Formats: sequence, C-alpha cells, structure tokens
Amino acid sequence: MFLKNCWYMAAWDYELIDGKMVARTLLEESVLLFKGESGAVVALENRCCHRGAPLSLGRIEGDCVRCMYHGLLFNGEGKCVQIPGQEKIPAKLGVRSYPIVEQDHIVWIWMGDPALADPADIPDMPYLSDPQWAGIPDYLHYDANYLLIVDNLADFAHLAFVHTNTLGGSEEYAYTTKPVSVERLERAFRVERWHMNSAPPPYHAKVIPNKTDPVDRRNIGTMLVPGIFCLETLFAPAGTGAEKGNIVEGTRQYRNYQFMTPETRKSTHFFWSYMNDFENGDRNISRSLHDSILEGFYEDKLFIEEQQKVLDADPDFSMVAIAADASLTHFRRVMDKLIAEQNAPTPPLRAVGA
Ligand code: FES
Ligand SMILES: [Fe+2]
Repeated sequence: MFLKNCWYMAAWDYELIDGKMVARTLLEESVLLFKGESGAVVALENRCCHRGAPLSLGRIEGDCVRCMYHGLLFNGEGKCVQIPGQEKIPAKLGVRSYPIVEQDHIVWIWMGDPALADPADIPDMPYLSDPQWAGIPDYLHYDANYLLIVDNLADFAHLAFVHTNTLGGSEEYAYTTKPVSVERLERAFRVERWHMNSAPPPYHAKVIPNKTDPVDRRNIGTMLVPGIFCLETLFAPAGTGAEKGNIVEGTRQYRNYQFMTPETRKSTHFFWSYMNDFENGDRNISRSLHDSILEGFYEDKLFIEEQQKVLDADPDFSMVAIAADASLTHFRRVMDKLIAEQNAPTPPLRAVGA
C-alpha cells in the first residue's frame, strides 16, 4: 500500500518547539514526536508496550517520555528504562523508534526498515533556510489519498479551470500553453511550462506595483518520490527574453514546496510553504501570498476530496488519461514499481553448488 523505505516529512520544526508533543498518524501508524532536552527530535510508536495507552498522554523527562498510566519510562530509542516498583526490566521491553533527521526546518521520518535509512537520500530544500526567500510554512489536512493530491500538482491544466480567478488567471491558460518538456526521471518528473505575454494572475497582481503590465510566466514543477513537490515560478516583464535566460530588473520569483505524507490510505498531511524573493522585509507580501495560495488550495481541496468520495463509491471505475496527464501517469508508474519492489518476496537463499 505505501512506500515505507523512504523519507517522509513528519512535521515542521516549529510544531515541536517548547516541549510540545505531537501525535500524528503516518502511513497508518500512530507516532509520537517530541524534542527532548538535548534538542534532538524523538519519534516513537505512540502506544505503550504495557497496556497500550498512548504515550502522547505522557510526560517528557529529559530525552525520555513517561507513560502516565502506570509510569513506565522510555528513552529516545524506545527502550524501557524504568518500571516504577519493579527492579528488573526485561532487556527487550520497549516501543518502536523511528529514524529522524531535522533539516531545513523539516522533521524527516523513515517509516521502513531502519537499516536502510540513509540521511544522504533526503532531498535538500535550500529555499526554506535561505534568508533571501521569505514565506510562511503551513499545514493542511486532506480527506483524500495522497496520490490524488500528487496528480493534481502534476497537472497544470487544472489551473485554468479550478483556479480561474486566483492562481490561474484565465481559462485561456489551458488552451494556449503546453508543457515545454516533461522529463520522466527514475524517481521524479520535471515539467516546464511557459505562458507568454499575459496579464499577471490575481495573486501576483496583489503584491506588485505594476499590476496590469503583461508578463512572461514560467513554471517548473518537480515531483520527487514519495510526493514532494517544488514549483519554481518566474514572472518577467513580457518580451524581455526570460525564456532565453535573460533576467531583467522587475523579474520576480516564487518557490513553492509541498509535501504529501499519507496519514491513512484515504487521508493526507499536506505541508507547504510559498516563498518569494522580493519582499525585502515587507511581511505583508508573504501574508498576502499565503492567503491567496491558501484560497487556491481550498479550491483544489474541494475537488480532490469530492473526487475521493466518487472513487470510493465505485472501486471498479477506472480513469482515462489525456495528453496533459503525461507527468502524473509517469509518477504513478514510478510509485507502483517502487512499492512492488519493496513488497517482492526475498528470493530464497540457495546452497552453494545447488
Ligand atoms: S499502559 Fe503505559 S505504563 Fe501501563
Ligand atoms: Fe491547484
């Protein structure tokens, strides 16, 4: 069902400040996240091994958490290190712990085989920690399978219809733009799309002085396994040669990160941040963009959650693909292949000479 052997975003770092405990279901497993005294993030199975009480009702003590039902104490590796009133602690007593890495303001978790967890596989998210880029990290909860959201992000065609008055700008966008290229990569896709000489879309017009000057708009979308999306948007004054790499004054750029982490097979944690490179300390620009993008996301959410209900009503229904679906079709193939490889039975060992 899920690709377990890969890194998922579990939380923003700000969610864990000040000793906060976050209980979050990830890939249908309940996980407790917290930052211990040493500052390291701990992720434990959120179920006490004694009688199954949630550890999220417990108390942080140093880098440990105490179950507040009968007081068992667990360290950051999930090992039980104290049983009140009992001297001997069975060596194996404990709960599962998960590999965690905190990087670029993101708490990454590995839900699969811990022996395979390599922090070098975590994608860099440089704009999140670069002071030149400003944005407001946020979270949305979806009642839909994460791949329906991935599909939606893979598809610029919906901008024109779902987001006509917000992010898209006009229905014309669907007719007059075509992906310049869809790169089908082993664990990703990359799409580039240009829309030349058009009016600035409403969300952009709100935060610029020259609101009606035509712009050349470029979007580059990259989707990485298991559902990590980066959109690099550029608006250049029309006709200044941005498509040939000529970047003139008045060009403004955005970076949009979105992370889809399955909660269950029918619900998703959606983390996002929309950053700009031109506010120069004017936080009203980030705020306006945040609100506009959120308005756009609610437009998507309506469609995607209703789509999930329609799909649930008839599991035999199968979708048909149109040309605009090339990238999402590729990504679904990539995910299917990786999940099938992960779930393939290990071939039996053969005796030498057999
Ligand atoms: S259920 Fe946790 S200590 Fe008993
Ligand atoms: Fe959308």
